[in-house]
Amino acid sequence: MSHKIAVLPGDGIGTEITEQAVRVLTALGLDLELHSEPVGGAAFDAHEHPLPPATLDLAKNSAAILFGAVGDWKYDTLPRELRPEQAILGLRKALGLFANLRPAILYPQLANASSLKPEVVSGLDILIVRELTGDIYFGQPRGVRQVEDGPYKGERQGFDTMHYAESEVRRIAHVAFQAARKRDKKLCSVDKANVLETSQFWRDIMIAVASDYPDVQLSHMYVDNAAMQLVRAPKEFDVIVTGNLFGDILSDEAAMLTGSIGMLPSASLNSSNQGLYEPSHGSAPDIAGKNIANPLATILSAAMLLRYSLNEAGQAERIEAAVQAVLEQGLRTADIHEAGTTKVSTSQMGDAVLKALN
Ligand code: IPM
Ligand code: MG
Repeated sequence: MSHKIAVLPGDGIGTEITEQAVRVLTALGLDLELHSEPVGGAAFDAHEHPLPPATLDLAKNSAAILFGAVGDWKYDTLPRELRPEQAILGLRKALGLFANLRPAILYPQLANASSLKPEVVSGLDILIVRELTGDIYFGQPRGVRQVEDGPYKGERQGFDTMHYAESEVRRIAHVAFQAARKRDKKLCSVDKANVLETSQFWRDIMIAVASDYPDVQLSHMYVDNAAMQLVRAPKEFDVIVTGNLFGDILSDEAAMLTGSIGMLPSASLNSSNQGLYEPSHGSAPDIAGKNIANPLATILSAAMLLRYSLNEAGQAERIEAAVQAVLEQGLRTADIHEAGTTKVSTSQMGDAVLKALN
């Protein structure tokens, strides 16, 4: 059976890194049908919208989406609904991609890349499960309004709405518990239940769902403390489940613990395992077009695509082993280069992964 895959390179380094991931996917000998459309700033330039109908249709009609990155400072002055970031938010919402899996793994070969002491991070392997289609990111109403009464009467006021429906919390809880079950069976739910009603509700639902998973140990942590524990003793965590806003912040923090955000893939899944796969890093416009970006996060995202959306775990492992092999060979792009290793370009890294596949 042929699998249709949407390739959305996007902006900045998006083009060069997805190109390498496509080479790797194509080399596997699977029956894949790849189609590409612009997204983000590139789509705005071509079609005056960050998520034009042709791009959205392609994404909807594909088994999986390989996404590069979006964003560039030059679009910062556009109205919000036309900015590149709206493409990724729009895709998440339109496809119902509610479950965002963000692994933070420290590759032993890159132990020196972390800004933390090696003993604090060596062997780090945590998974952040971030809810991706709810919370204050999408809550209505939002906007700027005139205050009617109280101390700020007559002033303008910016506002957003945080809310979670029970079914939204339940479904992400199940994803997280099931992920924990396949790992060390420890799940930490992160919230701000000491202050927020939404968080107290979130916590109550997590506790209710936990009764379906007696083999998984559930704990709770306030988000401020979680931010602190992540740098103090990150290896205490196994799986973290949290809402959209806290997950955005904590996943960047967790990625940076590894010192190599250029290595980390991510998956965003809906209830039919259709998924969007993208590197955890951004579009890095400052180094775009120079053939120096690290394509490994995108190549590893392609591996996640095979595992979660195409049910090809064996092929995913093949890619992951090839990435391990090139690191073993001492090949490094500029972001992870250190003395005693060999600096390679984006395309040379792609060449090396292809060679290691076979
Ligand atoms: C992420 C990004 C996005 C988010 C932006 C680009 C809208 O930071 O995927 O973490 O906030 O979710
Ligand atoms: Mg983010």
